[in-house]
Amino acid sequence: MPAAAPIGIHDLSFATTQYALTHATLAAHNGARVAKYHQGIGQYAMSVPAADEDVVTMAADAAAPVVARHGADRIRTVVFATESSVDQSKAAGVYVHSLLGLPSAARVVELKQACYSGTAALQFAAGLVHRDPAQQVLVIAADVSRYELGSAGEATQGAAAVAMLIGADPALVRIEEPSGVFTADIMDFWRPNYLTTALVDGRESISAYLQAVEGTWKDYTERGGRTLDEFSAFCYHQPFTKMAHKAHRHLLQHCGRTVDEAEVTRAVGLTTAYNAEIGNSYTASLYVGLAALLDHADDLSGRAVGFLSYGSGSVAEFFAGTVVPGYRARLRTAANRTAIGRRTEIGYDRYRHLHERSFPCDGGDHPTPNETTGPYRLVGLADHKRLYATR
Ligand code: CAA
Repeated sequence: MPAAAPIGIHDLSFATTQYALTHATLAAHNGARVAKYHQGIGQYAMSVPAADEDVVTMAADAAAPVVARHGADRIRTVVFATESSVDQSKAAGVYVHSLLGLPSAARVVELKQACYSGTAALQFAAGLVHRDPAQQVLVIAADVSRYELGSAGEATQGAAAVAMLIGADPALVRIEEPSGVFTADIMDFWRPNYLTTALVDGRESISAYLQAVEGTWKDYTERGGRTLDEFSAFCYHQPFTKMAHKAHRHLLQHCGRTVDEAEVTRAVGLTTAYNAEIGNSYTASLYVGLAALLDHADDLSGRAVGFLSYGSGSVAEFFAGTVVPGYRARLRTAANRTAIGRRTEIGYDRYRHLHERSFPCDGGDHPTPNETTGPYRLVGLADHKRLYATR
């Protein structure tokens, strides 16, 4: 029997919001030392959605260039991973399917498990492609991270969407087996259905994340995974970028290594360039980290990259990917930088107004102000239905 074709990430594109709040502005408002944000948690700005943006508009914005480059003929499945969805029943991906004009012969579904579900989507997609290598799966991970105003979590908000085309003979990253997986029932971070902001025990969440690093690595090595030294870089879920440093330091200690800070920075430093400006994009954050690594590293062709996906609650997965020779010609570096650079910086009052904004629940017509300059916008809510448009 011929060897199965490698499966992995054939294309990756991300989008973020119209607005940004800098941590210098946040610090000036709440009296924190800005060094706590810049050096302490490694964040410089956070993306803030305009009134007419949400996970759907960001997702369509991220996925449109992927569909434009590859066409939609082979896409029979769209998996939308999010923990900030817009409906309890309808998958947000159905709106994206419509906005992008994807074929009706497609299945669309939404996945949830905190920040982890983008990786679940990737693995489920790999399984579908394994069954039929002619098919491609559009995986979208999109989130708006929102904590209560004035809370410790406020500095770790953000928003972004990543779209990945998963297929056989991928152009960017081959996803390897095995995976190391880990689940523990922990209330470190959660959002009940009746709240619009997340609840979190900050310290508990960091230790739960580190526990998951150990758990996934144990399972990964027991299943015959690569050794630590085989990896050229590590992409970690980044609720704030210094978390990637904490996680890698913890992995080295767990493996009995002496922690050399220069080595930690070498392993994770390039993965944080975009997340430091975008903030926490939950499901998307790990793959925004991958985009930053591929855009900024010297040639990684044939090199192994480690991925640690963590979702509070908690579920985590460690897996490896091999960067495909020739990948640099397929990167979207200029577009990625533009997505971050095009944002308008807003002041604290404007940010607070947007944070507190919500649609009335009366079933009336509630148009949104025309704010975004992006290609897709949330036009409003009418008769309890969200209305979207292409600009
Ligand atoms: N100069 C330099 N560094 C400073 C400083 C200064 N003036 N002041 C403080 N710092 C450092 C602190 O030493 C600390 O660093 P270490 O952790 O390395 O010691 C860092 O800045 C943060 O300071 P605090 O711990 O005092 O900050 P805080 O109490 O305000 O809370 C937080 C930080 C817990 C991350 C909080 O923002 C939070 O709860 N965020 C949301 C939860 C979260 O992101 N958890 C991460 C793991 S869970 C996960 O990954 C899932 C997910 O996406 C949510």
